[in-house]
Amino acid sequence: MNNATILLLPGDGIGPEVVAELSRVISWFSDKRGITFDITTDDVGGAAYERYGNPLADSTLEVAKQVDAIVMGSVGGPQWDNVERHLRPEAGLLTLRKELDLFANLRPATCRPALASASSLHEELVSGLDILILRELTAGVYFGEPRGTETLDDGRRRAFDTQVYFESEIERLMHVGFELAAKRNSKVHSVEKANVMESGVFWREIATRVGKEYPNITLEHMYADNCAMQLVRQPKQFDVIATDNLFGDILSDCAAMLTGSLGMLPSASLGVEVNGKRAALYEPVHGSAPDIAGQGKANPLATILSFAMCLRFSLDRNDDADLLEAAVDQVLADNIRTVDIAASGVAPVSTSEMGTALLRALDKLNA
Ligand code: IPM
Ligand code: MG
Repeated sequence: MNNATILLLPGDGIGPEVVAELSRVISWFSDKRGITFDITTDDVGGAAYERYGNPLADSTLEVAKQVDAIVMGSVGGPQWDNVERHLRPEAGLLTLRKELDLFANLRPATCRPALASASSLHEELVSGLDILILRELTAGVYFGEPRGTETLDDGRRRAFDTQVYFESEIERLMHVGFELAAKRNSKVHSVEKANVMESGVFWREIATRVGKEYPNITLEHMYADNCAMQLVRQPKQFDVIATDNLFGDILSDCAAMLTGSLGMLPSASLGVEVNGKRAALYEPVHGSAPDIAGQGKANPLATILSFAMCLRFSLDRNDDADLLEAAVDQVLADNIRTVDIAASGVAPVSTSEMGTALLRALDKLNA
């Protein structure tokens, strides 16, 4: 694809700072690699609540449905803690996921060679690590009904959520998992709590059935608690981990830390393919980090690597994605680090200095 329409949603906290560096990268690809980008920028999350009274305005959603890809920064912040739940920044993101049916959330946890020593685990456990967490993103307890808080006749209060999965929702997620594994190391771990949850038993049954269609892929089942433990014990045993919305949320944060920094990890959320086109949202795994917002300390690489995923999955520009990832490895190898991944004895660079270094690396690699 040589022409792409993109919706940029910087969001809250450090979102605008990291997306500003991404904008420079996008301009570079348009100048130097001949991709024409038609970019719309809009607010989401708390910023949208302030501007439109809604964390995802209808007009924003309309544009989101039209574009080839959406790239987001991050949403949330303590100033919106007391806003009603359906108007909170996170609700904007959840609505976007649901409305675009972005059911397949890919969260790679890749240990970039230069950062193996930044992990909280021993270097030999993580060097070369390349796991892909595939999280179901539009169902399960995040969206299940009924949910609420109630007071019983005897005066006791309680709150409840519902974990619910349709067969079709598990099926389509597992198909994505097996297809991804086929292009990687041919192993899928399906993760649930079949030992205590009905929906876990069901998940395992469907995963097993879908797995029969992929005889060349090894399917293993694992309980979610064991998976959390195995991730920090022997993370290289995993290739693709396919799991539900809530377990995927938790396990992906855990896997993220193995790689040295949450500030490094990209993600893609993909919808169903219709007429050769699928809705797609790219965002860093890290949050809005309000504690460092506006200080030029944030690491823009997760957002930039999310754009590399966009080049690969939405624009079919694998060479450009490879180039961008190589540039990231280059700046890290040159010891250019923001504070979250700083090497000892080397002064950390700012968000925009990191952006500048990355453009320089792109120029060099493209020469
Ligand atoms: C994530 C985040 C979100 C989630 C929040 C911000 C709603 O933690 O994308 O992992 O829980 O899905
Ligand atoms: Mg999370």
